Amino acid sequence: MERNLKELISQMTLEEKAGMCSGLDFWHLKGVERLGVPSVMVSDGPHGLRKQDDQADHLGINDSIKAVCFPPAVLSACSFDRELMKTFGEAIGKEAQANDLSVVLGPAVNIKRSPLCGRNFEYYSEDPYLAGETAAAFINGVQEHHVGTSIKHFAANNQEYNRMSSSSNVDERTFREIYLPAFETAVKKSQPYTVMCSYNKINGTYASENPHLLTEILRDEWGFEGYVMSDWGAVNDRVEGLKAGLELEMPSSGGVNDREIIAAVQNGSLDEAVLDRAVERLLNIIFKYTDNREEQEFTLEEDHTLARKIAEESMVLLKNDSVLPLKEEEKIVFIGEFAAKPRYQGGGSSHINSFRVSSILDEISDKANVTYVKGFPADKDVYDEALANEAVEAAKHADKVVIFAGLPDSFESEGYDRAHMRLPDCQNRLIGEILAVQPQTVVVLHNGSPVEMPWLTEVKGLLEAYLGGQAVGEALADILFGKVNPSGKLAETMPYKLSDNPSYLSFGDGENVDYREGLFVGYRYYDAKEMPVAFPFGYGLSYTTFAYSNLTVSQKELSDNDTVTVSVDVTNTGNREGKEIVQLYIRDLTGSARRPLKELKGYDKVSLKPGETKTATFTLDYRSLAWYHTGLKDWYAASGEYEILIGASSRDIRLTEKIHLTTDKVLPLKVHANTTLGELLADNRTAEYVMKLPERMGAFFGASEASDSADDAQKDRAVSDDMTNAMIASMPLRNLVAFGVFGKEELEKLLNEINSLL
Ligand code: BGC
Repeated sequence: MERNLKELISQMTLEEKAGMCSGLDFWHLKGVERLGVPSVMVSDGPHGLRKQDDQADHLGINDSIKAVCFPPAVLSACSFDRELMKTFGEAIGKEAQANDLSVVLGPAVNIKRSPLCGRNFEYYSEDPYLAGETAAAFINGVQEHHVGTSIKHFAANNQEYNRMSSSSNVDERTFREIYLPAFETAVKKSQPYTVMCSYNKINGTYASENPHLLTEILRDEWGFEGYVMSDWGAVNDRVEGLKAGLELEMPSSGGVNDREIIAAVQNGSLDEAVLDRAVERLLNIIFKYTDNREEQEFTLEEDHTLARKIAEESMVLLKNDSVLPLKEEEKIVFIGEFAAKPRYQGGGSSHINSFRVSSILDEISDKANVTYVKGFPADKDVYDEALANEAVEAAKHADKVVIFAGLPDSFESEGYDRAHMRLPDCQNRLIGEILAVQPQTVVVLHNGSPVEMPWLTEVKGLLEAYLGGQAVGEALADILFGKVNPSGKLAETMPYKLSDNPSYLSFGDGENVDYREGLFVGYRYYDAKEMPVAFPFGYGLSYTTFAYSNLTVSQKELSDNDTVTVSVDVTNTGNREGKEIVQLYIRDLTGSARRPLKELKGYDKVSLKPGETKTATFTLDYRSLAWYHTGLKDWYAASGEYEILIGASSRDIRLTEKIHLTTDKVLPLKVHANTTLGELLADNRTAEYVMKLPERMGAFFGASEASDSADDAQKDRAVSDDMTNAMIASMPLRNLVAFGVFGKEELEKLLNEINSLL
C-alpha cells in the first residue's frame, strides 16, 4: 500500500511526534489512534520468542509465552550454513507473525573478544565475516515474513561488566575491521528493519548519542533504511540521541524524555525536521509490518524438529580416538546431571519459556544399554563423595563412559562476566577419577563459551554441544549413537588457558576498556603469536574423512572491480555420508600494513555421500583483500600478491594459490617537513624525484666512497649500505636543513615541488 507519510506526519501534534520516539510500555511502541497509526509490539529474542503478556522485564525473570527455544547463537554459528540460518529465521518470522510481533530483538552479533563475556552464548563468533554472513542469512529469513529484526548491540559491547557506563576504547581501524563488519554485512545484505544501539560508550561517547556511529557510518556509508532503537535503558541524553540518529527509545521513559524533545523543539535547540525525519523512519517500518500482515501457520512441534536439526548440524566433534559413535549393544554409563537436566540456553533477556525440553537420558534409555549415575550436580560446584564413588564404581564395569559436563547457569549469564574459564572443580575432579579407571571415556560439554580442559589429552572423545536449545537431547542421541554425522565447526578458538587470550590484560576494566590487542582478536592473535591452542577456529571432526583437490581460480591477475571465482573439489574418502565446511582465508603478501596472517573470507558447506566429489565455490572481490585505511577513510588493498588458503580449519590449510592485484586506488599523501624520505621513496608519484636526493646526501653519510686505509675499512664495516639506507629512509625532510644539505628556503621550494606532483 502506498502511503504518504509526510502528509501523515504533518497532521501530528508535536506531542504525538515526540511520543512516537519512545515506547508506550515495556514492549510496545506508541500509536496515534486518531490517525490510524497502530501501536505495535517488539519482543526478544534471537533464538525463540520471549513474548511477555503480563509482567514485563528485560532480564528474563518473569515468564513469557510458551515457545520453542532454538539453539542459541553460540551453537548455530557452528553450522557455517547460510541456508539453515535462513530457515531458522523463517521459523522465527512465522512465529512472530502469528504472535503479533512487529520486530524480533536480534540477532546479536557482537564479537567474542574474551571467553569471559557473560553473553558470549548469545553471540556468533570471534570472526566478523562469519558473524556477518550468519546474521544476514537469519535476518533474510525472518524478514521474508514481514517481521523486522533488530541487529544488536551496536556496537563494541563485548563485556557485561559496567555495560551501561563503560567506554569501549577502540582504534578506528580495529573498529572497522573487527567490531563493525558483522553489522555492515547484515545491513548491506539483508537490510534489517531496525538496529539496536548498545549501552556502552565508544571512545567516550554513548552509542545512543553517537552521530559517527548512528548516522555517518550506519546510514551515510552503509545505507541503512530502518530505524535505530535503544537497548532497554540505554538513553543518556534523549535530545542528543535524536540528533545523532536514535529514533526510538525503549522502553517507555514515562514521558520524561518525550517532554525533553518537545522542549528542545520549542526552545529552538532541536530542529523539528529532525523529529519529523525520525517519525517518518519509524512509521515506515511500522507500516511495513502492519500493511503486510499474513496468516501464519506453525506448530511448536514442527519448530522443535527444526531446533533439533539446527543443533545436529552445529554440534562440534572435537576429539574422537575411535570411541564414537557409540553402539547400542555396548554397556554404557552416563555420568553427570546434565544428562538428565541439560543446560540448553543462557540466562537473561534471551531466556525462552520452552514448551518442551528433551534430555539424552529420556531419548536413549529404552533404546540402548545405558545406565545413568548422577556423579555431580548440574547447578552448582559441590563435590559429593557418595555420588562420585558411585560414578567411579559404575565406570569401572562399563564398556564406555560418557560424562555430561558443563557450566551451571550461575557461571555465565547476561548482566555479568565469568570470573574464570574453568569448569566447576567438582567436575574436573570427577572426570580425572573416571579417567583413572576407564580409558574409554567421552566428555560432552554444555557451555556458552570455552572452558579449560585439564583432562583433554586423556579423554578418548569430546563433543562440544554448547547450549543446544530445547531439542538438545535428541540431537545428542543422534550424534553420539551415529544416526547423524557431526558437521559443525568451531566459530571461535578454544585457548588452553584464559591468560593466552589476547584481551586478558585489558578485559573487564571498569570505566575505560582499552582494546589494546587491536586487530589481533581470536585466531588473528593466536596465529600471529604461533601459540598452540586446544582447538583452532574452524575446527571440527566428522565420522568420515574428506580430501581436497583441484583448487582453481578464475583469474590470477585482477584489478579493483574484478571478482574472482575460486573453486575446490572435496571428496568424501570415508564410508559414511557427511558434510564438510570448506574455509577460504586470505593472506596479504604485499607488506603494505601490519595484518593478521590470515582472515576468513569465504566458506561453503558441502554434503557428500561416501566416495562422492563436489565442488565448493567462493567469490572474492577487492574488499576481500582489503584493510581499512584511516587516512583514506576507506578500504584499501595495495597492489601486489595475495595468497588464497583453502582449509578444513584455520590451522589445517590444504591448498594454496596466489593472485595478484593491481589497484588504481591512490593513497592520500600530503608532504611536509616531517615526511620521511622512506615514505616518499615508497610512493611511485614521488619516488623518482626523491631518488635524486640521497645522491647529494651521500657525501654527508660517506657511504659509497671507496677507501683503502685500515681506518676506512673499519668505518666501512660499521657504516654499511644497509644502515645508510635505513637511516636515509627514516629521515624527515627537515633534517636536510639541519644537516646542512639544503637551506630553509630550498626546503620550502622542495616541499612545493613534491606536493605539486601529487
Ligand atoms: C538486552 C537486550 C534485550 C533487551 C530487551 C536488554 O537488557 O541487552 O539484548 O533485547 O534487554 O529485553
